[in-house]
Amino acid sequence: MLNGKVALVTGASRGIGRAIALKLAENGANVAVIYAGQQEKAESLCRQLRELHVQAQAYRCDVADFQQVKDTVAAVSKNLGGVDILVNNAGITRDGLVYSMKEEDFDAVINVNLKGAFNFIKHCYPGFVRKRAGRIINISSVSGLMGNGGQANYSASKAGIIGLTKAVARELAGRGICVNAVAPGFIDTDMTENIDKTNTLLGQIPLGRTGKPEDVAEAVLFLAGDGAAYITGEVIRVDGGLAI
Ligand code: NAI
Repeated sequence: MLNGKVALVTGASRGIGRAIALKLAENGANVAVIYAGQQEKAESLCRQLRELHVQAQAYRCDVADFQQVKDTVAAVSKNLGGVDILVNNAGITRDGLVYSMKEEDFDAVINVNLKGAFNFIKHCYPGFVRKRAGRIINISSVSGLMGNGGQANYSASKAGIIGLTKAVARELAGRGICVNAVAPGFIDTDMTENIDKTNTLLGQIPLGRTGKPEDVAEAVLFLAGDGAAYITGEVIRVDGGLAI
């Protein structure tokens, strides 16, 4: 269903990004795997993707670095063709109460989570406009919808992603480009491995379980596909009902 399309997924070497890359490739997309540092994991994912008979290439890129992102988008366009589906998934946390949060922890989270998404949108924008087609899918969080104590930086970045999504959706709608966000709840990945999964947390999730990376990947696949051609500026929660 995504045959011949080029998907660019940031933070794809592990966790939710990896599941998204696999899901899009299973459905025929060629994938640019953007990673920060884990080269072996990124290369190993590419080998796995190629077994699905799609093209896959890994690119090391710090999403927060404007020039690196520009160079990466140019390299992807040269090697795989222009980007059709952009998935801004890379993200970090630097949790703490505002009282003790360092300025650099605030800046780092905003720079990776929010500016990183802007950087890729900015540099993919001309290609999308030329094709008069494309999908942008930004990974937000229920923390951005509800606010989460101890995560002021993260919640601000993820709420910012929602504003960015809606603004760009309006800008690009006239060119046939759809821009949406997915807001995961509590998903089992490295990011959440140190969080205490007590009954208290599970008790807040109406569906009674934490999510899997594949749960998020399914929503991304839907937004990337033909079935979502009339959806833009939307935020889909994948949270077991946590933020109802
Ligand atoms: P993870 O920590 O397993 O993966 C994050 C990925 O982003 C890693 O591959 C990492 O290398 C990459 N990354 C970090 N900084 C980068 C940078 N400067 N440049 C390029 N890549 C960079 O985390 P997970 O759980 O897979 O998270 C994926 C996305 O989903 C993040 O945006 C996160 O905020 C979001 N999310 C995760 C939730 C969860 O419960 N795990 C809940 C809600 C949202």
